[in-house]
Amino acid sequence: MSTMFTISCFGRTGTRSRNIVVFSYRQFSDSFYRSVTLDSESRERSRSVTAFYNQSAIDIAAAKPSVRLTPTTILYAGKSQDGSHLLRSAQYLHKELPVRIAHRIAGFRGLPFIVGCNPIINQVHEMYINAFQLLTEFPAVESLEDEENYSDLLRNLLDTHGDVVTLMAEGFSECRKHIKDENMIRLFLDRTLTSRLGIRMLCEHHLALRDEKPNYVGIINVNFSPRKLIEKKGEFVRAICDSKFGCAPEIRILGHVNATFPYIPPPLDYILVEVLKNAMRCTVENHLDSLDHLPPVTVTIASNKIDFIIRISDRGGGVPHSIVKKVWDYNFSTAGTIPDSRIDRGLLGDFVDPRDSGGATPTRMHGYGFGLPAARAYAEYLGGSLTMETMQGIGTEVYLRLRHIDGQHETFRI
Ligand code: COI
Repeated sequence: MSTMFTISCFGRTGTRSRNIVVFSYRQFSDSFYRSVTLDSESRERSRSVTAFYNQSAIDIAAAKPSVRLTPTTILYAGKSQDGSHLLRSAQYLHKELPVRIAHRIAGFRGLPFIVGCNPIINQVHEMYINAFQLLTEFPAVESLEDEENYSDLLRNLLDTHGDVVTLMAEGFSECRKHIKDENMIRLFLDRTLTSRLGIRMLCEHHLALRDEKPNYVGIINVNFSPRKLIEKKGEFVRAICDSKFGCAPEIRILGHVNATFPYIPPPLDYILVEVLKNAMRCTVENHLDSLDHLPPVTVTIASNKIDFIIRISDRGGGVPHSIVKKVWDYNFSTAGTIPDSRIDRGLLGDFVDPRDSGGATPTRMHGYGFGLPAARAYAEYLGGSLTMETMQGIGTEVYLRLRHIDGQHETFRI
């Protein structure tokens, strides 16, 4: 059975044209059949979105460079009693976000036709067009009342875009087999995911500026302890591992366990969880005969003047030679299957640990194969690196290296 459906999409350079494409979904994928009905509500949405395709505002914004700030600039932007820091921050975002979103839209437009036409990728593309429209329509932020309304808009956008990474992972898993150019996919996804990370960090930072949380300036923890974060995320991943396998290895933390310095925890959360998930899963899968005596996952912290390093070592048997290069590829999953539902929100929806947010949904141990490549892209965006050494037959060591943000040495820009 082949399902026929209609979607709206646009050509690769497609700034002016709107094509209606009717096709058999079998053309995209042998294994997925999806029927799409455009009810009146979505037809209406589609009309308003496609009307916007024609506007040159996106092209104009996309041609502008983005203004990226160092964490130090953000940290020392100052906090004033009269709230003028909130106003300044909102005014910066009001100008900056449309430019960054327009860059993302340009990225979607540059995708090969067969990828851009995938219904899920197309949906994400439209979400960005919608966001651009909402952000550019918002009048200049001139008072604290404007700033509150603007913050509401940001909160809504962060929420509606919470599943973007999961959607993209799903969309690409459907259509990427038609793309031979691995580099092109990597470039698009690295750029889209890291730019999105930057956008979300800026928005979250602005929203957090109101909060009076000890040790925090916005999203920056001025007294960040890597050990505490590793303990917290370690417990989170152990709970997932335990719910899936009925057991979980201990986590042993060594090295500079008392180190504290200013840092932005959220992207680090994501990276740590991804790496710890892999370490725990491999440990369990490699010790199925001795689940009562699982070797611990050892995490070593080293902090120096320039950067800090977190090494995660497991005794999970190492990564087989046959897949060692592929683990960094988007959509490569050792599970070998594509999950059938979207429950990864806690991680891929970025800054939310489901337990922090009260959500009950456990996170998978593995999914669409976006975890590791996205974690590496995030580490590099933060001026660092994520590398792996594996010893087949023994285990794997992953090195996460990140630069300090104390302003004394060169660092990254958000
Ligand atoms: C995203 O989460 O995809 C974003 O780019 C956030 C932005 C629309 C506020």
